[in-house]
Amino acid sequence: MKALDGVKILDFTHVQSGPTCTQLLAWFGADVIKVERPGVGDATRKQLVDVPGADSLYFTMLNHNKRSIELNSKNETGKEVLTRLIETCDVMVENFAPGALDRMGFTWERIQEINPRMILASIKGFGPGKYEDCKVYENVAQCAGGAASTTGFLGGVPTVTGAQIGDSGTGLHLALGIVTALYQRETSGRGQKVSAAMQDGVLNLCRVKLRDQQRLAAGPLKEYSQFGEGIAFGEATPRAGNDSGGGQPGRILKCKGWETDPDAYTYFITQAAVWEAICDVIGEPEWKTKPGYATPPERLDKLNEVFDRIEQWTMTKTKFEVMEICNPLNIPVGPILSMKELMEDDGLRETGTIVDVDHPERGRYVTVGCPVKLSDSPVEVVRSPLLGEHTVEVLTDVLGYGGDDLATVIDSGAVGEVDKVAAE
Ligand code: COA
Repeated sequence: MKALDGVKILDFTHVQSGPTCTQLLAWFGADVIKVERPGVGDATRKQLVDVPGADSLYFTMLNHNKRSIELNSKNETGKEVLTRLIETCDVMVENFAPGALDRMGFTWERIQEINPRMILASIKGFGPGKYEDCKVYENVAQCAGGAASTTGFLGGVPTVTGAQIGDSGTGLHLALGIVTALYQRETSGRGQKVSAAMQDGVLNLCRVKLRDQQRLAAGPLKEYSQFGEGIAFGEATPRAGNDSGGGQPGRILKCKGWETDPDAYTYFITQAAVWEAICDVIGEPEWKTKPGYATPPERLDKLNEVFDRIEQWTMTKTKFEVMEICNPLNIPVGPILSMKELMEDDGLRETGTIVDVDHPERGRYVTVGCPVKLSDSPVEVVRSPLLGEHTVEVLTDVLGYGGDDLATVIDSGAVGEVDKVAAE
């Protein structure tokens, strides 16, 4: 048993944001049928190719546990097949450019006519308004959603983060909207439209920065390093480098080996409750009671000195030793882990967060498994489908095509090249 057993998803998504969402639903047990343009497929199949001739990691890592059907949704027979998929499925997920679905002839009104229980879930760059017609990619969303203006160092340029909060972040938001709509359908009996705009998703993840924007009206943000450094605040939430967002001063500090290893760093938070333990660990026990150092407000204008001193200590330890020493004392620290280290992490492999997957074209590769664990709905990560791998299977098993009907669809060219002998 899987949590979403029996739920059929018509997956009309491409690139990253939509596929992240449907991959999660597949891991939770939904039957995800990915509809792709014949002969072309999701553009990511052939983007950032590392193994010539094979689907890229970009595609394989976002499309596990799905079935693939090639279908031209602009061809008349293709539209008939799509109509039958809409009749049969519970959820249709898409992240086309604004208006693309309407141009295919599948407006929300038409979809409701075909199947009133259908949940139509869409990702767009912006919600309704002046930018609603824009095509949007990850970094545009990070910039338009407030992440870039609040990331980076004071005086430096706005900076995007490596975490794909615009694409994968919005995919996560949409997945929650979909399961919520499925839940509501249990009582209402009706489907509904679920929309997630990437700008909105990023802004939601930047909630604490909007909090700070409003706190500025009451005076400077005292937990920001710039306050201790005597630098005036402007009108908007500033970039705060690696300051911790929660009010407890925190920084990224060098550890042993930093001269040659770009990731030999630790995050270190001077949590007020463990100040005394910090003083003992770094060899400054007198700071526990020394005027100007003993309480958090007194230390605000000395954070550079305090962190410089802590860094003198962290530079004598590896980032893992810092963790081993500080954790038992409840001093919040965290090693800066590289992708290489994460990929090789035994613990993450044991929990299924990092998994090896075998692929017929590219061999074995590593991926991130399902990050959410359900105790009654185990996840087995299955390789992504080849383009059109399940076209005949979906036409026959899901949609009930057979005999002459099936031959007509195949001969129409709407579903791309299929193995006709196998189809028979
Ligand atoms: N059969 C026939 N045509 C198909 C098809 C199929 N199976 N699948 C897609 N197409 C067509 C679409 O109908 C569209 O045609 P149209 O322009 O005539 O309407 C065309 O392919 C291109 O689709 P589009 O979504 O415009 O792709 P794009 O490469 O031009 O734009 C994005 C890509 C991501 C910028 C755009 O889809 C977008 O803004 N999406 C919403 C936001 C988003 O998710 N962005 C992040 C992606 S990670």
